[in-house]
Amino acid sequence: MNELSTAELYLQDFHQRQPGVTSAAFGQLPALSASARYASTYALLARLVPDVDTPQSVLDLGCGDGHLLALLVAREQPQLQLIGLDMSASELAVARAILPPSVRLLHGRGQALELPSASVDYLVSHMALMLMDDIEQVVREMRRVLRSDGRFAAIVGRTFLLGEVNDVFMRVFKPIVSTELPPLRFGDRRTGSEAGWRELLDGSFADVEFDDIDVPWTPTPGELWTALLDTYDIDRLDDGARQRLRTAFLDAVAPLQGGDGKVATGWGLRLVRARAA
Ligand SMILES: C[S@@+](CC[C@H](N)C(=O)[O-])C[C@H]1O[C@@H](n2cnc3c(N)ncnc32)[C@H](O)[C@@H]1O
Repeated sequence: MNELSTAELYLQDFHQRQPGVTSAAFGQLPALSASARYASTYALLARLVPDVDTPQSVLDLGCGDGHLLALLVAREQPQLQLIGLDMSASELAVARAILPPSVRLLHGRGQALELPSASVDYLVSHMALMLMDDIEQVVREMRRVLRSDGRFAAIVGRTFLLGEVNDVFMRVFKPIVSTELPPLRFGDRRTGSEAGWRELLDGSFADVEFDDIDVPWTPTPGELWTALLDTYDIDRLDDGARQRLRTAFLDAVAPLQGGDGKVATGWGLRLVRARAA
């Protein structure tokens, strides 16, 4: 792999310490679009890959521990050729342990895919594209490896938390970010908006479509805090700042608890789909 940026080195370190953290958070939570409910955001992406008898090659870009690939393997679709690529060797080691040898796993970066041009029919990606440096180069590589008319579908971030809990979290988090979080830019801001995605995909992809995907979750404040500990920016705080954030957040969120002690929230995500033009 080429030399990694500071953000990429941090991501590698995080995923070495916590492989499988994303599928642990999202793998069991139902996902809702405006018109349908899915077992999870991974199941949503798996459903988009056509269940056909003809040969079909699928690349999962930023495949992590292979959770999405495992759902595709479980379909027992004989002509499906599955490939996963990730820059984290630790995530890939978990993926290798759970996936059959027929699934090809590549250690590399989305900016330089070691795959032939026009060799992929469907490119999927779950919660990874918004982290990638030089996303324009990643999009060029996505288009290069996809056949003409090949499809692309990705789940990326939209908001952070759902509902009022997000406002409460941002209110206590922002002052800590500005004073105590060392600056580090993950990915390209354009991956956070529909307009940004249209700009990135313009010219090489057509039929660009978006769906808001909500992953509702009603945890106790303590359970929510535990989940937040597995997010990059909170992980990057030093222990003192993290403890101050914990106290401020748990105090601020307490009034939102229902009679059962839980808070209605979840994760606000976006499905981006397009066709290689
Ligand atoms: C939030 S995790 C998601 C993993 C998996 N798709 C899932 O949802 O379970 C993001 C993954 O993207 C990978 N990643 C980030 N930037 C990358 C890049 N430029 N090239 C390849 N992988 C990258 C990380 O190593 C990590 O495994």
